[in-house]
Amino acid sequence: MRIVIVGAGVMGSATALELAQKGVKEIIVVERSVPGAEASSAAAGMLAAQIESRDDAELDGFVAARNAYGAWAWALRDKTGIDIGHHQTGALCIYREEALAAEARRKVEAQRAHGLAAEWLDGAGARRVEKELADDILGAAYFPDEAQVEPPRLVRALAAATAQAGIVMRTGTTVSTLLSEGGRCAGVSIVSGDGAREVLRADAVVLAAGSWSSLVPGIPEQLPRVRPVRGQIVMLEERSPRLRSIVFSDHAYVVPRGDGRVVCGATMESVGHCREITAAGIHKVLANTLSIAPRLGEAALVSSWCNFRPLVVTRTGEPGVPLVGTTPLPGLFIATGHHRNGILLAKAAAEAVANAITGAL
Ligand code: GLY
Repeated sequence: MRIVIVGAGVMGSATALELAQKGVKEIIVVERSVPGAEASSAAAGMLAAQIESRDDAELDGFVAARNAYGAWAWALRDKTGIDIGHHQTGALCIYREEALAAEARRKVEAQRAHGLAAEWLDGAGARRVEKELADDILGAAYFPDEAQVEPPRLVRALAAATAQAGIVMRTGTTVSTLLSEGGRCAGVSIVSGDGAREVLRADAVVLAAGSWSSLVPGIPEQLPRVRPVRGQIVMLEERSPRLRSIVFSDHAYVVPRGDGRVVCGATMESVGHCREITAAGIHKVLANTLSIAPRLGEAALVSSWCNFRPLVVTRTGEPGVPLVGTTPLPGLFIATGHHRNGILLAKAAAEAVANAITGAL
């Protein structure tokens, strides 16, 4: 059985590994750049299951995905020697407005009733958990089990593990079209960096091209579209590490790595694939950051970057759910559209797609 995966981000690479573990012998990952070149290595790496979930159905899936990371991190380190920086640092969501705080208290109560660790803290209580917080906050929802990983390390660990598993990575190679024959997907046509064209026939193809997934020629018309949502991120460095917890303020957040580096994000912008760091974007991120922890104003600004979250959009223009599993074209499978939660859900999505493929073939 030969399986071709389009895209070597965390979705494509993790799916390749799952398939290899299920005994699939011939797996080829086609990547136009290098593994994890886009959103996968640009992400902040929060495993913020309890904060990012929007309803009970998501909550269960997100928490299971977060809790599975410990074993995955261990397995990847065991295989490759690479530590993906998995740490249970806990997360606070801070509030300054009573109406929003009341809503947050209800969320905390609901999650506690669900058996999850969650606590409402007043301002002083929140500053006992994270002493760097601004002193004008009303209170915070505290989720001590939330965690983080370092996406660039995760990407390197996945690249090393896929190589060890004998998975072929065709980097610098673009898919010019999916091939359809007799009403099913039969492989892909590819163009290598030197312009050489080739057909890769396959029993199944997995589309895992992130926010570029809808641009791959030959995808079925009926598939919901995936649109890019740009996020701009800043990396600060504290001379002496002070911040310890992940802190959210609305969609803005700071993610301290524990060694002085603090990832600060992120904008949410619908600007197509316009890869630009803008003055307004960085201004917004830094303003949010300093409103969370004013002393970060003393930290050095060491880098900034941007990339594109893959957001599924329905025919009526509403945000949709991630695309994971089968598609309207037999033989074509998909793993994309995880928007703000691609790192969190990578392993769970990879398992679901691998099961769908091995169940169907
Ligand atoms: N998961 C955080 C973000 O997408 O910015």
